Amino acid sequence: MSAKKVTKIAVLTSGGDAPGMNAAIRAVVRTSVHHGIDVFGVARGYNGMIEDDIFQMYSKSVGNIIQRGGTILKTARSAAFFEPEGRKIAYENLKKRGINGIVVIGGDGSFKGAQKFSHEFDIPCIGIPGTIDKDIAGSDFTIGFDTAVNTAVEAIDKIRDTADAHDRLFVVEVMGRDAGYIALHSGIATGAENILIPESKTDMEAMIASLTEKEKRKKLVNLIVVAEGEEFGGGTQVGNFLKEKLPNADIRVCILGHIQRGGSPSCLDRLIASRMGYHAVECLLNGTHNVMVGIVDNKIKYTPLDKAIKAKQKISDEWLKIVKILAS
Ligand code: F6P
Repeated sequence: MSAKKVTKIAVLTSGGDAPGMNAAIRAVVRTSVHHGIDVFGVARGYNGMIEDDIFQMYSKSVGNIIQRGGTILKTARSAAFFEPEGRKIAYENLKKRGINGIVVIGGDGSFKGAQKFSHEFDIPCIGIPGTIDKDIAGSDFTIGFDTAVNTAVEAIDKIRDTADAHDRLFVVEVMGRDAGYIALHSGIATGAENILIPESKTDMEAMIASLTEKEKRKKLVNLIVVAEGEEFGGGTQVGNFLKEKLPNADIRVCILGHIQRGGSPSCLDRLIASRMGYHAVECLLNGTHNVMVGIVDNKIKYTPLDKAIKAKQKISDEWLKIVKILAS
C-alpha cells in the first residue's frame, strides 16, 4: 500500500469490451470531479499510456454514455505493456501530468499488468472487474456478464423456435474462453438438455445414450449449450461428434460469437458499474490501494489485485446438480 496522497487519477478500459464499461467510466469521472480531483482518460487500454494518448475528462465528457455498450475510451490487449520498456514509457507519460492513481476496468490479464506497474513505480492501481466471462474471483458480479447472458438467452429462445418447428437438435456455442458461466446461466434459463462447460468434464457417452433414448421416445427437439472453452473444443467439434454418433438426428450448430459482447447494458450492469466506479475512486483517496473492487453478498469487497488474478470462480455443485435434474 502506498502512503502517498492521490491527487490525479487516470482511468482506462482494457481487454475485451463489456457492456457497462461506459457506466463505470462515468462513475469514476464524476466521483473524481465531485472530490475536486483531476481525472484523465487513457485511450485503447495500456497502449494509450505508452503512446501518450491521455486526456483530461470532465463531468460533461461522460454525458449520455451510461446506456451505451462498448467503451468510449476504446480498449486493447496490450502486448507492449507486458515489456518493462513499455511500462517505463507509460510511467513517464503519467508522471509528466502528475497522475498518481489509476483505475483499470478489465479482466484478470489487465489486473496482472496493473499489479506489475504499481509495484515497479509505486502508483496505486484499483481494478474494476469488467468482463462478460465472470471469471474473476472476489466478486459475485463482473460488469457485462448480465447483459451478455441476457443476449444469449434471447438468441437461444429464438433458436428454439426453429428447433421446435423442424424437430432439430441445436448445438449453440456461447462465449467463455476459460469459464462456463454464460453457458451455465443461459443454458439453465433456456431449458437446455445439456450444458458443456470447461469447469466440469462431460461424459460424452452418457450424453449420446440420453439423446438416443430421447430419439426413441420422439423427443427430437434438443438444445445443447456449449461454452467455447469446454474441453471438447467448442460447438463445431461437439456438433460434428453428435452428427457422427446420431446419424438420424437433424443437427445444426450455431455460434453466437461477438453479439454477446455488444449492446446496451442491462440495468444490473449499469448499477454494479456505477457502484464499483464510485468505490474505486474512494479507495484511491482513502488509501485502500492495489485492490479490485468487487461485490459479494451485496456488499463491497476489496480483493488484493494478485488474488483477483490467480483464482477463478468455482461453479457451485448446486448448479451442476440442478442442470442434471432439470435436463432429464
Ligand atoms: O474475455 C471475453 C471474451 O469475449 C471471451 O469470452 C472470448 O473468448 C474472447 O473474449 C474473444 O476475444 P476477441 O474479441 O479478442 O476475439
